[in-house]
Amino acid sequence: KKVVLAYSGGLDTSIILKWLQTEYNAEVVTFTADLGQGEELAPAREKALKMGIKPENIFIDDLREEFVRDFVFPMFRANALYEGQYLLGTSIARPLIAKRQIEIARMVGADAVCHGATGKGNDQVRFELGYYALEPDIRVIAPWREWEYRSREALLAFAEQNQIPIAKDKRGEAPFSVDANLLHSSSEGKVLEDPAVEAPEFVHQRTIAPEDAPDTPHVFTMSFERGDAVAIDGVAMSPATILTKLNELGHDNGVGRLDLVENRYVGMKSRGVYETPGGTILLAAHRGIESITLDRGAMHLKDELAVKYAQMIYNGFWFAPEREMLQAAIDYSQQKVSGTVRIKLYKGNVSVIGRESANSLYDQDLVTFEEGVQAYDHNDAAGFIKLNALRLRVLAKRDRRPG
Ligand code: ARG
Ligand code: SIN
Repeated sequence: KKVVLAYSGGLDTSIILKWLQTEYNAEVVTFTADLGQGEELAPAREKALKMGIKPENIFIDDLREEFVRDFVFPMFRANALYEGQYLLGTSIARPLIAKRQIEIARMVGADAVCHGATGKGNDQVRFELGYYALEPDIRVIAPWREWEYRSREALLAFAEQNQIPIAKDKRGEAPFSVDANLLHSSSEGKVLEDPAVEAPEFVHQRTIAPEDAPDTPHVFTMSFERGDAVAIDGVAMSPATILTKLNELGHDNGVGRLDLVENRYVGMKSRGVYETPGGTILLAAHRGIESITLDRGAMHLKDELAVKYAQMIYNGFWFAPEREMLQAAIDYSQQKVSGTVRIKLYKGNVSVIGRESANSLYDQDLVTFEEGVQAYDHNDAAGFIKLNALRLRVLAKRDRRPG
């Protein structure tokens, strides 16, 4: 039996690794992804070796460019937000991890894959829908749903019996659960569980508080081509480099904090604290360039589709035909979404303060209050309003009739 485990190198997935070896008698292949979570990956290799994983069974991949280019940017073309607020930072990373895990399973001839998501959350759904969409007969092992440990103590006892080193600060319960990548970091649970209580400052890890941000604004430009960010201040950069740079700018100006209660796919409400500094800037900038390059009909239809599209990503249906259909429509809409926006960051706020494009639909002659062009005739407006008002007038007259 050969299993590919999504392995972070942390305590929980180290316990899972040992459990697969001892309880499942499986040959374990570890897969550790650099998605820009900001942690050293070398220790994951060391730990895997120490736990008896053969060097050829250790996979450590830098997936940052693929993550931003093929997952984050396509999602931002849609301006996707779940429940009006969540930028889907965790949700969008899961399909990529699942995809790479399946690729590795094929390479090493493994018949099973394993993840460390709990049995109560969205992530188990996202990982497993990804696995099954790509490899319909794969065997899935979800230890949190399968093992008999019902408490943290039982789990730590198992770790101790098996000489898994437990950092001193991990002996007690972690104060909250974190998931991080280049797009965001999310914190949930424990000290955050009561939605009436404000999140303590120490929960935040990639932004300073808006109150502590500089008193002078930071102004810069972002250039777009076909809906994707391609340059900052005129300097062309790769997708992951752009997001990294935007994260720094957002961090320094207290941009991108979000505290919300969301509806999980599996049915319960949960409270999360998210930080998406670069993504928050990217969304505002993308809407800025769309505002002059997209037609109203295209834009409004896109906005309606985006609600559905966000639900699909949140619920784990990245590799589903309905998501691909919407993606095709969204990508089609971006053909002329090129140009440059000027952005101002100030104490937690992102403002678009200028936009320019060779494809602009903005017509100053049309909109100006000065007497202008022939294309717009004021008399047309009078008729336009009159016909639109017709049914409202009929209604008003009916409702005025006595009885
Ligand atoms: N609630 C978010 C989502 O479903 C984040 C989940 C992972 N976060 C965590 N702290 N474990 O996308
Ligand atoms: C987990 O349950 O592993 C994290 C939270 C979630 O997936 O919603």
